[in-house]
Amino acid sequence: MRISESKIDEIRNSADIVDIISGYVQLKKRGKNFIGLCPFHSEKTPSFTVSEEKQIYKCFGCGAGGNVFNFLMDFKSISFIEAVQEVAEQLGITIQYEKDFYAEGQSELEELYEINVLAARFFSDYLLKSSEGEIARQYFKKRNIKPQTQKIFDLGFAPEGWDNFLHFANENKIDLQKTKRLGLIDINDRGEYYDKFRGRIIFPIFSPNGRIIAFGGRILENRENTAKYLNSPESAIYLKRRSLYGLYHSKEEIRKLDKAILVEGYMDLISLYQNGIKNAVASSGTSLTEDQVQLLSRFTKNIIVLFDADAAGQKASLRSIEILLKQDFEVKVVSLPQGEDPDSFIHKAGKDKFDELISSAKNFLEYQAAQYEQAGMFEDPAEQTKAIRELVKSLALVNDELKRILYVKSIAKKFNLREKLIENELNELFQSQKQKPTIAKTIVPRQNFSNGSASLKMPQKYSPYEKELVRLMYSGNEEIVRFIFDNLDYSEFENHDFRKLASIVEENLVVSKISPAALIEKIEEEELKNFIFNLLLEDEQISKKWDEFSFNGKIEKDTIAYAESVLRRYKIFQINEKIKLNSQLIEEAKEENEKMELLKKNKELIAEIKILNGRLE
Ligand code: GTP
Ligand code: MN
Repeated sequence: MRISESKIDEIRNSADIVDIISGYVQLKKRGKNFIGLCPFHSEKTPSFTVSEEKQIYKCFGCGAGGNVFNFLMDFKSISFIEAVQEVAEQLGITIQYEKDFYAEGQSELEELYEINVLAARFFSDYLLKSSEGEIARQYFKKRNIKPQTQKIFDLGFAPEGWDNFLHFANENKIDLQKTKRLGLIDINDRGEYYDKFRGRIIFPIFSPNGRIIAFGGRILENRENTAKYLNSPESAIYLKRRSLYGLYHSKEEIRKLDKAILVEGYMDLISLYQNGIKNAVASSGTSLTEDQVQLLSRFTKNIIVLFDADAAGQKASLRSIEILLKQDFEVKVVSLPQGEDPDSFIHKAGKDKFDELISSAKNFLEYQAAQYEQAGMFEDPAEQTKAIRELVKSLALVNDELKRILYVKSIAKKFNLREKLIENELNELFQSQKQKPTIAKTIVPRQNFSNGSASLKMPQKYSPYEKELVRLMYSGNEEIVRFIFDNLDYSEFENHDFRKLASIVEENLVVSKISPAALIEKIEEEELKNFIFNLLLEDEQISKKWDEFSFNGKIEKDTIAYAESVLRRYKIFQINEKIKLNSQLIEEAKEENEKMELLKKNKELIAEIKILNGRLE
């Protein structure tokens, strides 16, 4: 039994949270909000706050918070579906339960998913099993991929030919324009459609929830001038930087074992899985993105990176490790023997040897230190300084201070280095980072929420502009939200929590589901959810504390004009940061023409600011 998502939206949108909570808690109006004694913990002065406008509640005493469904779930200890039913009943909305979830009101995105499902079926159920598929079946045999495994990963085959899929699409009345947007077909100069995946083994790429969002295709035999892998382009349902190959299949095991193994290739992941190593994810040959790491962090914070022995593999791995360390992952590494990748290794050596290899994994910093030791760098004083400097660069990426101290201690002990030496070097590095006004480490007033009760734990520094933009994104005003996304590249946000929060809005903007009450259902991290509650409900308090955005009361808040103003100020702020950085570089520059180049850049930047300023007031 299932209630369609659109029905749930309808119910959430029609409910009045104040009405419903009033049935259980006595509420009083105060300012824009309602307050009452929190039903989830005992208190004498009310800190339970309900916003009629935002349709959410939050207790600033115990931290409980959510939308109307969350309230009923917690208050009555019932399931989500029961809460939805209860609200529907109170509103007199009848729920039709559907067997076919997608039958009703199939949205644009659903159609795209549907096309991918049909395509995957065509590639796997039909083509792979056809007579033309023999060559692919042979290929799988050669690569030791069993039929059972092919099935689990929905592997398929697209034979040579320009219109195999196109025919199928036409026969099944599949929308060709949408199919083109998914990158399954393309159009030539004569306006004719043709298949993109030809003569390739097909690897469907799944979202973490198991929906097919894209495809990867591998040629059967390596050929010059032909890319070994062809991947679907990005689309409304496929954002490369946010998807991780294999996560759907491995997430349960990752959660269970509380650790993941990072490999590079599709084949590596599949081969490990077949051999019983079911907690791997694949980066697909590039280094991990912050979004991917964030995604993974929902399941574990422990990762073992399998280094391919080749230089390219190592380079991508190092970059991934940097991003993992930055997001507080516990990173271990294993190097494979020369010439092997995880797929070939497990095939040759077997699971036991592989397990052995994995359990020999070293902490990344120790691994790095061991490499320097092997190279004899710790024996020569000058070399030692160099080595420590490199180690300290990695250490500095670890945000958690306690962890950092422990690492320093353990490295010092293991490699017979003076702790103080490492500490000094680390402090020096931090000092020099502070002095350099890089965009990445913006110097911004950090805001304090000093009402004591609200447990706001956004650890990183953040820019008030970014924060105000996030607040506007969660304001529930679609016009404003669209305006912001039309004019802002939030991937430039310095704070990755803000990037994450913005990406959630962006994702839901496609389907116009941006009411705060709907959005908070999509935020998984408790901390971020709390941050949004605070942002939305303490709004009045905060803006009084920090009146830069009141613009002397000239512009009414939560209007397009206001959003535009904030955006411009943010852009000017960003440009100013660039100018500062350039000025620093100018001072340091040795070459005259380098200096001139930077001066010229700054002039352009100043001109940009003038233009932006001119439009401000
Ligand atoms: P096999 O050669 O079949 O064993 O695949 P592999 O996964 O071991 O390939 P490899 O180690 O060469 O590359 C690792 C990953 O990088 C692949 O799984 C792909 O995701 C990606 N990749 C490799 N070659 C290409 C390419 O030509 N184009 C694109 N877009 N991605 C590639
Ligand atoms: Mn391989």
